[in-house]
Amino acid sequence: MKVLTVTNRKGGVGKTTQTRTLCEYFSVTRRMSTLAIDLDSQCSLSHLFLDMDVSQAGEQGTRPPIHPDYNSEDPDYADWNGRSSSADIFFHGEIFPYRVQYPDGADTLDILPANKQQLTTVEEQDQPSLIERVENRLREFLSLPDVQEAYDLVIIDTGPGESPLARSALRACTHVLIPIELEPQCVRALSEMISEIRHEDMRRTLETQVQVVGIQPNKFKVRRTLHKSLLNTVQKEFKQYVSPVVLPDLSGFAERDADLAVPRSLFHLPPSNKAKIKAVEFCEFVDSKLFGETAHAKQA
Ligand SMILES: Nc1ncnc2c1ncn2[C@@H]1O[C@H](COP(=O)(O)OP(=O)(O)OP(=O)(O)O)[C@@H](O)[C@H]1O
Ligand SMILES: [Mg+2]
Repeated sequence: MKVLTVTNRKGGVGKTTQTRTLCEYFSVTRRMSTLAIDLDSQCSLSHLFLDMDVSQAGEQGTRPPIHPDYNSEDPDYADWNGRSSSADIFFHGEIFPYRVQYPDGADTLDILPANKQQLTTVEEQDQPSLIERVENRLREFLSLPDVQEAYDLVIIDTGPGESPLARSALRACTHVLIPIELEPQCVRALSEMISEIRHEDMRRTLETQVQVVGIQPNKFKVRRTLHKSLLNTVQKEFKQYVSPVVLPDLSGFAERDADLAVPRSLFHLPPSNKAKIKAVEFCEFVDSKLFGETAHAKQA
């Protein structure tokens, strides 16, 4: 089982959009058993795949909906409130992933959605011993034989900023993808991100080092001189890490976020659509990094 963490401390660089695109590609196009984990208390990825419960009270914040398998009269579920989220991993609760009905009613994509209030509690831990437990916990969970058997691929969407949750996602991964925008602040923060990954490697054996799938340039505007020159800089300074696919700033990506977007998936846009063409290139690149250069040849 491969575990891909999509991460960048910078906000708004495309983590959720790329996670979503990859989830659709691997589950529908590649028919791989895929688990998406939303570790961001903003719940952005969860909103894209599930009808989340946005509590009016405000205190609870956004929660996952009642699980379709839950039956309040079933004594087996006496200790369960019917909702399951990625936060339960850290509270050692029972974990019931949700089958994503979209895209295409595929039976290959599950999600462990976020729970705003509970993830915020995890994020705000300030006792060193608890922080360390959080940092190790996702890795422990994903190492369970049941989880290893159930999925070919786990894709983790992380929130912006530095937090025990982001570190937990890094510790749990086999591979990492770093979406970036070609803005000075974002580029400046890259060296720090790479050293964080190398620091994580120091805890690991040679065979289990974190594989950097790529630094993924996103929202590239061809007419912006700054974008071109920063792309050059990144390609020079981080040569071995930069993805060969540059994702342009295209409405085809952003428009998929709307609840009523038609079609909801990029992959259902016409074959000539620019965003779709680029998304396929991007996914095939990630696929080759995760599963080997010949993955497509075999599939074809
Ligand atoms: N290539 C692109 N072209 C145009 N818009 C894009 C592109 N990639 C992402 N976006 C849009 O940019 C916004 C931010 O993207 P996204 O939510 O994926 O970033 P994020 O890194 O997950 O943000 P956060 O750090 O808040 O979680 C969204 O509105 C998304 O639709
Ligand atoms: Mg996000």
